[in-house]
Amino acid sequence: MDLHNFEYKVINFMKQILMEALEYAKPYINQGKVATYIPELGKMDPSKLGIALINCDGKRFAEGDFDFPFTIQSISKTVALAFAIMDNGKNYVFEKVGMEPTGDSFNSIIRLEAINQSKPFNPMINAGAIAVDSMILGDSVEERFQRLLSFFKKVCHNESIQYNKSVYKSERETGHRNRSLAHFMKDSGVIDGDVDEVLEVYFRQCSIEITCQDIAMIGAVLAKNGMSPINGEQIMPREVAKLIKTFMVTCGMYDASGEFAIKVGVPSKSGVGGGIMAAVPGKMGIGVFGPALDNKGNSIGGTKIMEYLSHKLDL
Ligand code: DON
Repeated sequence: MDLHNFEYKVINFMKQILMEALEYAKPYINQGKVATYIPELGKMDPSKLGIALINCDGKRFAEGDFDFPFTIQSISKTVALAFAIMDNGKNYVFEKVGMEPTGDSFNSIIRLEAINQSKPFNPMINAGAIAVDSMILGDSVEERFQRLLSFFKKVCHNESIQYNKSVYKSERETGHRNRSLAHFMKDSGVIDGDVDEVLEVYFRQCSIEITCQDIAMIGAVLAKNGMSPINGEQIMPREVAKLIKTFMVTCGMYDASGEFAIKVGVPSKSGVGGGIMAAVPGKMGIGVFGPALDNKGNSIGGTKIMEYLSHKLDL
C-alpha cells in the first residue's frame, strides 16, 4: 500500500471512530445539566457535543461541535500550575500547595480548617488553584494575567485566545465561595499579597474562551512531555509536563477521579464549561466538549466520549 493510500485509510478510520464516539455519547446528554451556579454558564446549549484529537506528530482529527467556543474553567488549572512552577520552581510551589487527592468536591472548603494543615490539598481543586495563581509573577493584575494569557496562547498554538467578558463578570459577581477560600488562605499565610488581585486573575483565567481544538493541543503538548507537536519547541520542562499529567490522574476529575481512572485510564482534566482535556502519553491530546454535566461537575457526554475512545483506541 502506498503512503498516500495508507494516510487516507487512517483519516477515514479516525473519522469513523470519532463519529461513533459522538453517537455513543449523545443519549447520555439528557441525564446531565449545564452549570447554573455561574448564571452565564446556564445559557449554554446542553445538546452541544464535540471532539478534537491531535496526535504527537501534529495531525488533527475533529468531529461534531469541535469549533464551538466555551470557557476553559478548571482545565486552566493545569496550564496555570505549569506556569507558576516555571516562575517559582517546584519546591516553592509545593511549600504552599499539597499533592494529595481529596475526594471532596472542587470548591470544598472543609479541609482547609479541619485537617491540621492549612495549605490546600492539591492544585486542581479551587483552593489550590487560587493559591497557585497567587504565585504568578507580575507587578499588577494586568501584568500577571497578560503573562499567563500569553502562555495559554503559546501552549494552545492560538494567538487569538481571549477571555469571555460576560462569563468573567458572572463568575466575579457570584464567586463568594472562591472569595472565602482565598481569604481563609490569606489568613493562614498560604497567600501572599492582595487577595482581590489574586481572585481577579483566577476569575479571568477560568473565563478564557477556547474550543476542543485548543484543549486537544494542551493535551498534545503534555502528551509529548512539554514539547510542541507542531514545531518541536520545548514549551514547558519535561518534568513539569509529567507532574501535571500525574495530577490529572489523581485529581483531574475531582471526586470522580478514581472511577474515571478505572473506566478511561487516561490523564484528564475537566471544567464546568463542559470541556475535558486529556493527554495520552506519547500518543495524542484529546479535547472533548459537552456542557451537560453530571452531579460531580464533569461533562456527562465528554466522559462517555472518553470511555468510548479509550476502549476503541486501546488508550
Ligand atoms: O471556580 C469556579 O467555580 C469555576 N470558575 C471553575 C470550577 C470548575 O471548572 C470546576 N470543574 N469541574
